[in-house]
Amino acid sequence: MVDTPQVLGNGWLSDVAIRAHVSGLEASRLRIEVEEEIDSTNAALKRRALSEDIHGLALFAETQTAGRGRLGRVWVSPPRCNIYLSLGWRTGLDPLELAGLSLAVGCAIGDGLERNFGLKMQLKWPNDLYLGGQKCGGVLIDLVQSSNQDWTIVVGVGLNVAMANPGDDNDIDQPWTDLGSHTTATLTRNEVGGQLLGALVPLLSSWQVGAFGQWRESWSRRDLMAGHQITVQQGNHSISGRAEGVDPSGALRVVTNEGLTVVQSGEASMLRSKDL
Ligand code: BTN
Repeated sequence: MVDTPQVLGNGWLSDVAIRAHVSGLEASRLRIEVEEEIDSTNAALKRRALSEDIHGLALFAETQTAGRGRLGRVWVSPPRCNIYLSLGWRTGLDPLELAGLSLAVGCAIGDGLERNFGLKMQLKWPNDLYLGGQKCGGVLIDLVQSSNQDWTIVVGVGLNVAMANPGDDNDIDQPWTDLGSHTTATLTRNEVGGQLLGALVPLLSSWQVGAFGQWRESWSRRDLMAGHQITVQQGNHSISGRAEGVDPSGALRVVTNEGLTVVQSGEASMLRSKDL
């Protein structure tokens, strides 16, 4: 934690200002839109995909009235302090060929925020973004099939930038943090939004089957749970053991009393020392 955060979270988002912060080549591949209020940027892009091509469409919102997180959770989305972004992208691949993509999105965001703002982001499998051991954001990937059967992905990113107003966090059910609490850099949401797009577009445009292998090293540097005792909840079933990183497809490796298990999906939590 730093004493004097310099984040200017409360200016308005602007498509022109965001575009100015996307690195040159990537900016030309994007349409950037900002909504003042929307139900959910992911839901909005999925709706629009039924009647238009959303490839390269980046939709930001100042606030969401029905922001969604993983596993149907609510994503608390107070106005004018955070990033709520969805980016539509046609990869030309089928859903089964996208293994590891959502983890790679976290790595690309982490690498970009470290390069540009010196932030040391950690990642909690599969999609949580952490700073200083507390959650600061998350990634939610949805898939939509257009009328010609092509799959388009909707990459949703929620990132707390400067959650400054009392009560903003009343509905958040876990410890949280924001970028502003971890940097002395002066940064705006337009800048953060532009940098996010600059990190995501090269990843998405070069994604191929098996591409997570290139991101595995970045993942292991940022892996919040590696070496910790964890429990992964899968419906009524749970698996407990020591987290041992991820395999080349992005599945979680857990060493249980019976040996190594590879977990494809579920909700992982780290055991606190008093739980052991
Ligand atoms: C999670 O950690 O559960 C994922 C959270 C993803 C939230 C973002 S905010 C922008 C986009 N629109 C949504 O409704 N959800 C994602």
